[in-house]
Amino acid sequence: MIRVLGIETSCDETAASVVALNDDGSREILSNEILSQIAAHAPYGGVVPEIAARHHVEALDKIVASALEKARLKLKDLDGIAVAAGPGLIGGLIVGATTAKTLALVANKPFIAVNHLEAHALTARLTHAVGFPFLLLLASGGHTALVAARDVGSYVRLGSTLDDAIGEAFDKAAKLLGLPYPGGPSVEKAAERGDPERFDLPRPLLGRPGCDFSLSGLKTALRLACERIAPLTGTDISDLCASFQAAIVDVVDDRTRHALRAIVELGHKPIALVVAGGVAANGPLRLALSRIAAESGVKFIAPPLDLCGDNAAMIAWAGIERLRRNMTDDLTAPARARWPLGEEIERSHRTA
Ligand code: KG4
Ligand code: ZN
Repeated sequence: MIRVLGIETSCDETAASVVALNDDGSREILSNEILSQIAAHAPYGGVVPEIAARHHVEALDKIVASALEKARLKLKDLDGIAVAAGPGLIGGLIVGATTAKTLALVANKPFIAVNHLEAHALTARLTHAVGFPFLLLLASGGHTALVAARDVGSYVRLGSTLDDAIGEAFDKAAKLLGLPYPGGPSVEKAAERGDPERFDLPRPLLGRPGCDFSLSGLKTALRLACERIAPLTGTDISDLCASFQAAIVDVVDDRTRHALRAIVELGHKPIALVVAGGVAANGPLRLALSRIAAESGVKFIAPPLDLCGDNAAMIAWAGIERLRRNMTDDLTAPARARWPLGEEIERSHRTA
């Protein structure tokens, strides 16, 4: 049995979790503590890095203590301590990394510096034990990527965004329409009552070669449509949300189909299409992806909603995956604001 504590402080949630891999191969989330800072950032319409870092400092000790308590474990019972060491907001990352390193030092446990994006990618192995290779669509507030996941630590980025992340586009659309932050859930809710065909918004890069995204033109088109019909009624807002969401779903559909072809061209036969990141909560998007998977003869895997957004169980699980392969780190491993998926920490920081 392997039990790892995971810590997540890369953005605006302070989170700690203990996950176990049992001898029979079953996985168990023994605790999954999360404190969202949404209320602290909402007045600003986005995450303020200084405020986030300060909240992490104030909350993390208690969150870790409560994750251990709920798992009914002491530090000495753990097999390792994992932290999201990047990418993300550097202030928060340093808070998490320093805490994790201190715990690892005091308890004399292996330390694992986890890439937050890899943790999102591996979540489907925690929840569904999916094998490699698989195609990952990662869509969150800060990241948009289509990735061929070949093994733990081995990824090929097939496409990403040239400008805004998908979640960011939802957040900006919501702000423009006066809907509450975070934007994704607000836009999806308003879109339920709206007409997706009323506004003919652009589908940037649709049909073009490759798997990249570009969403800033869509955002501009939405702004111009708003300005044309202002002042907006409730129906206008619903129709704008529905039209915007439909455009995003069409683009994601097209890019994902391209990525499924690209992964085959790389010589891999994907087992599954996996979606991760906060945007994976979006119903119409999930539906479109499940259709693509069915048509392509691959499994569609979307982790449960509480494991799609940022959480520490995914960090603990990525820690287990790495610990099993002796991919641990020494305590000089840095927190990294920028850390592309697939790029390993330099060898000097690896202990194995
Ligand atoms: O993964 P996540 O919790 O944090 C980041 O790492 O960014 O993702 C948050 C993002 C936000 O941009 C939010 O608006 C978006 O995910 N999101 C959604 C939905 N729920 C959250 N976007 C579209 N539809 C949703 N239902
Ligand atoms: Zn994330």
